[in-house]
Amino acid sequence: MSMETTFSIIKPNAMKKNAIGGIINKFESQGLKIAAAKLTQLSKEKAEEFYSEHKERPFFGELVTFMTSAPVMLMALHGENAISKNREIMGATNPSEAAAGTIRAEYGDNVGENAVHGSDSPESAQRELNLFFEKNEICNC
Ligand code: CMP
Repeated sequence: MSMETTFSIIKPNAMKKNAIGGIINKFESQGLKIAAAKLTQLSKEKAEEFYSEHKERPFFGELVTFMTSAPVMLMALHGENAISKNREIMGATNPSEAAAGTIRAEYGDNVGENAVHGSDSPESAQRELNLFFEKNEICNC
């Protein structure tokens, strides 16, 4: 077991469903603390930089358009094995394959509009946290 901090985004489709409370409840009730949070609307440049590893994929343009279409909630989540725990709580990328009770099963609409993003490795978590938060904005809790 190791204490980790991971990066999470509540995506525009979940924000439009007023699902912030429901989603945060799943994190907190399963052992993850909200160590930082920002509600903002992403610029095209920031969304393209964030998803740069997908820039050759056919869905890249659609993904950037969706992610900039409405406000999002950016968060740092802290806890034991936070990276893998967050991925379990989110469920499979495609909501139609996500286990019952996971965030994507409850709030996802399709593989693009899948309610939440979560870092997939310690390296991605560090890169993604650095893109959106200053070190002193993440509480050491
Ligand atoms: P996320 O965890 O934010 O990381 C990359 C995102 O690309 C992923 O969630 C999906 O929202 C999106 N994505 C992955 N595969 C597809 C696809 N086939 N069509 C559209 N969007 C996709």
